[in-house]
Amino acid sequence: CGIVGYLGFREAYPIVMNGLQRLEYRGYDSAGIVLTSESNTGGLYKTKGKVADLREISEKNNIKGTLGLGHTRWATHGVPNDINSHPHQSNSGNLVIVHNGIIENYDTLKKELIKRGYTFYSDTDTEVLINLIEEVKKTNNCKLGYAVQLALRNVVGAYAIAVFDKSNPNEIIVARLGSPIAIGIGENNKEFFIASDASPFIEYTKDAIYLDDEELAIIKIDRDIRVRKIHGNLVVEPNIQELELNLEQIEKGGYDHFMLKEIHEQTNAIVDTYRGRLLADKDIIKMGSVDNNITKFLNAKRIVVVACGTSWHAGLVGEYLFEDLARIPVEVEYASEFRYRNPVIHKDDIVIAISQSGETADTLAAIKLAKANGAFVFGICNVVGSSIARETDSGAYTHAGPEIGVASTKAFTTQITVLSLIALKLGYLKGELSKSDYHNYIQELSIIPSKVEKLLKFDAEIEKIAAIYKDAPNCLYLGRGYNFPVALEGALKLKEISYIHAEGYPAAEMKHGPIALIDESMPVVVIATRKGHYEKVVSNIQEIKSRKGKIIAIVTKGDTQVRDIADHVIEIPDTLEPFTPLLTTIPLQLLSYYIAVMRDCNVDQPRNLAKSVTVE
Ligand code: G6P
Repeated sequence: CGIVGYLGFREAYPIVMNGLQRLEYRGYDSAGIVLTSESNTGGLYKTKGKVADLREISEKNNIKGTLGLGHTRWATHGVPNDINSHPHQSNSGNLVIVHNGIIENYDTLKKELIKRGYTFYSDTDTEVLINLIEEVKKTNNCKLGYAVQLALRNVVGAYAIAVFDKSNPNEIIVARLGSPIAIGIGENNKEFFIASDASPFIEYTKDAIYLDDEELAIIKIDRDIRVRKIHGNLVVEPNIQELELNLEQIEKGGYDHFMLKEIHEQTNAIVDTYRGRLLADKDIIKMGSVDNNITKFLNAKRIVVVACGTSWHAGLVGEYLFEDLARIPVEVEYASEFRYRNPVIHKDDIVIAISQSGETADTLAAIKLAKANGAFVFGICNVVGSSIARETDSGAYTHAGPEIGVASTKAFTTQITVLSLIALKLGYLKGELSKSDYHNYIQELSIIPSKVEKLLKFDAEIEKIAAIYKDAPNCLYLGRGYNFPVALEGALKLKEISYIHAEGYPAAEMKHGPIALIDESMPVVVIATRKGHYEKVVSNIQEIKSRKGKIIAIVTKGDTQVRDIADHVIEIPDTLEPFTPLLTTIPLQLLSYYIAVMRDCNVDQPRNLAKSVTVE
C-alpha cells in the first residue's frame, strides 16, 4: 500500500493526488483521500479501483484544505471495496487514519471496542486501530500524539500510519513499525510531506526523515518535528537526510531495477505469505480457504494444476510437494494446452489455478472449462480481487505485494510457499506425515525467510560469475527432483531478460540430447544440493566436466565433493528437501539479473513480454 500526506500552506489536494499516482505501483485495489481546513472545506472520498477513479469522484466536489492524507491500497484484510478503502474514520468522525501493514491482534481489540459501544463499518484492522486511538484519547483525556502512542503499545503487528484530527488542521501524527514511512520537511518548518517512499515529494524538498521502527513523530506547523519511541518515552533526535536519489530510483526503493528490489523483497514476502497461516509455535497450518473445503481436498483423487510461465513452474514444484508429502497424484498443465485439448476432468478432481496477476487469459479460460466440467477450482493469485481470484471457487492469496518487474521472482517463491502449506496440511491430515515430520517441516518452513536473507547477501559473488558468462550464447540449467522445476525457471529467467538462449533439463535427461551441445564455451548451471539424488547429480557433473563444459553449481553449504569439480560454486544453507526450491531459486534469479544488466538489457521491461497476458 502507499501513504501520502501534506501539512502546510498549499492546497493539499493536488499534492496528495499526484503523490498517490506516483505510489500506485505499490497497490491499486482502491484509493482514498481526506482533507481538512480551518474553514470546513474538506471532505473524505474513497473508492475501489485506481487513483484515476478516485480523481473522478473527488475532483468535481472541489474539496479544499491544507492538511490532507491519501492512500492507495493492496488489500490484506477485507476485499477491495469502497468501505474497506482508506482513510478510515473513528466513530466520532473526528479522527482519520491511513495505514499500511497488518494489525495481527485486531480481532481481540475489536471485540473489546465493541463491548465499549464502538461500531465497525468495514472488515479492516485499520478501522479497529483508529477507534482504539479514539477510545484511548477519550479515557486518558490526552492529546492526539500521546493517544496514538498509548494505543500502539497495545498493537501487535506491522504498520506505518498517519493520523489527524479533523478539528485540528495544524497537526499530524505518524508512526512506524516494520513498514516504511518518510517525512519531507519544507523550508522553515512551514510545510511537511508524508509518504511511504520519498517519490511523492521529491520536487518539493530534499530534506527527509525516515522513521525507524517503533518511532512516532508529532508534526506541527512552525515547529521542529518531535520524534519519540513508542514504548518508553525516549525522545529521539530526528536524523534529517538529504535525498540524493532521483524520482525513478526512489520508486524502486533505491534499487536500480524493480526486479532486483523484488528479489530482495522475498524474505519479507514469504513471511507475508504465511503470516497468520503458519502457526509454528502451535504446529498448526491454518488456511481458511482449505479448511472450509477440507472434505473436497481430502477426497480429491487428483489435483490438476493449470498455469502459465513462471506460475507453471511453481505448479511443477507443487507436483513434487503434493505427491511426496500428501500422496495425491498431480498433473501440471499449461493452461493454454489444457483448455484446447478436450481434457479429462472428473468431479472429484481439484483444479488449482496459479497466477501472479490473476488476469492471464489462458489460465482464466482453463478455469472456466474446469468449472463447466464440475471440478472444484482453487486459485493461488497475488493480485487481490483479480479476475482469477473472482472466478475460482475458493483460493489463497500469496500476499507478495505488487510485482512490477516483468520477470517474476517473488511471485514464484510465494506461490511455492502457499503450495507447501497446503501440501503439508493435507499430508498431515491424510496421515501421510507423522506428527514429528509435520512438526519438523513446519519449524523449517518458519525459518526459511532467514535463510533467504542470508543467501541474498551473496549477490556480489554472483555478480562476479555473471561477468564471466555474460557473453555466452547459450546456457544449460540442470536439476533433479524438486529442483528440476527450478532449473526450468532459472533458464526462463535468463532467456526472458538477457535474451541468451537457455534451456532447463532434468539432469539425467542431459545425455539424451543436450550433452551434444556441451563444449568449453557452454556454461551449465547445475543444482546439486546434498538432498535429492546428490550422488547422481555429481555423476552428471562429471559428464559435463569431461566434455569441458563450464560448471556453475548450486550446492549445500559445506559441500566439498562438487567444489572439487565445478568451476564455480554457490552455497545455499541446508534445509529439508521440499523447501530447497525456495533457496536454490534465489541465486539463479540474481545470476540472470546481473547478466542482463551487464548486457545492457531492459531488465524490468524485456522486449516483447508483458507482465500480464490478457490475450491468448
Ligand atoms: C507472463 C509474464 C510471466 C508470468 C506469466 C504468467 O508471461 O511475463 O512472468 O509468469 O505471464 O502470468 P501470471 O500472472 O498468470 O502468473
